[in-house]
Amino acid sequence: MSETAKASKRILSGMQPTGTSGLHIGNLEGALRNWVRLQDESTLYCCIVDWHSLTTRYADTQQLWEACLILAAEYIAAGIDPKRSMVFIQSQVKEHAELHLLLSMITPLGWLERVPTFKEKRELISDKGEGDESISYGLLGYPCLQSADILLYRPLGVPVGKDQAAHLELSREICRRFNHLYGPVFPEPKSIISEVTAVVPGLDGRKMSKSYGNAIYLSDSADVVADKVKNAFTTTTKLRKTDPGVPETCVVCQLRRVYDPEGYSTSWDEDRAGIRGCMQSKKELTEILNTALEPIRQRRAELLSDKGELENILKDGADRARETAVETMDLVRKAMGLR
Ligand code: TYM
Repeated sequence: MSETAKASKRILSGMQPTGTSGLHIGNLEGALRNWVRLQDESTLYCCIVDWHSLTTRYADTQQLWEACLILAAEYIAAGIDPKRSMVFIQSQVKEHAELHLLLSMITPLGWLERVPTFKEKRELISDKGEGDESISYGLLGYPCLQSADILLYRPLGVPVGKDQAAHLELSREICRRFNHLYGPVFPEPKSIISEVTAVVPGLDGRKMSKSYGNAIYLSDSADVVADKVKNAFTTTTKLRKTDPGVPETCVVCQLRRVYDPEGYSTSWDEDRAGIRGCMQSKKELTEILNTALEPIRQRRAELLSDKGELENILKDGADRARETAVETMDLVRKAMGLR
């Protein structure tokens, strides 16, 4: 595809740097693989949203920079080419903050209070007994900042997992409200969500998530992966090999479908028919997973051994991302009558 045709097809997405464990395979299969697939046909903005991570982890910023570098290494190890795509840190493109501020003026409070992830985080915080004081103004504005991340690049699409669908819907509403008030500046961004990997299950059957402690990380060694898979939930009523399994609700079978799209159905049939046991399924899944993850692990380690080079990549990514961000902010200011 020609460079001009590609440039008009901009795609943006982002992930939070949540600590030194880095990404889990839910992030990888739910979103990052789609970014990699899209980079041939579009101009890809791969954001590391460090400001978002402050909405809850504001008191613990010691490892934030390290976590950003790890995330950059993981984007690249998974197949993002930093020469073609922009790999950058949100806080290094200050236009994100300006657009966030302007969008916050036109976003009704009720829209933010109704966002399910805000309600969930609020409950989680109160369950931990942390009290209302740890729910910040920034946390409520989280989806507004996310809308700014997206709209700043006027992208056609945003590849994410299903848990981001409500945030994306809100971004579209804010986009429509802006265009209605000030004229058509932003195209409405589409969400791009894979069917099979929209929600990658964690080892306990809930959504894979760092906060549930049920994740397999790109940083996990082959032995750790084997151990985690050994303890994963399967069909609760399948106690013996000959008991029928229910692959649709078995974590091991679900992960097998993600990592073995050609061959999984035979293993599912055998599971249902009671001619294979969970131990065999776990052993095979461990091998399949480790084969898929090993090259990413190796590349990740190589990249992290040269932090200076990663910092250069991030600076270059921010410089290139800023070009579009500056253009958008000119349009925004003009539309709003700001000079
Ligand atoms: P975050 O950092 O929680 O997750 C990063 C991406 O991984 C996807 N994901 C999953 N997909 C399938 N199965 C799972 N178990 C799973 N867990 C996570 C998420 O859907 C996401 O695509 N709010 C965003 C970060 C953000 C953003 C943005 C995203 C900030 N600005 C602009 C897109 C565009 C978040 O916290 O993602």
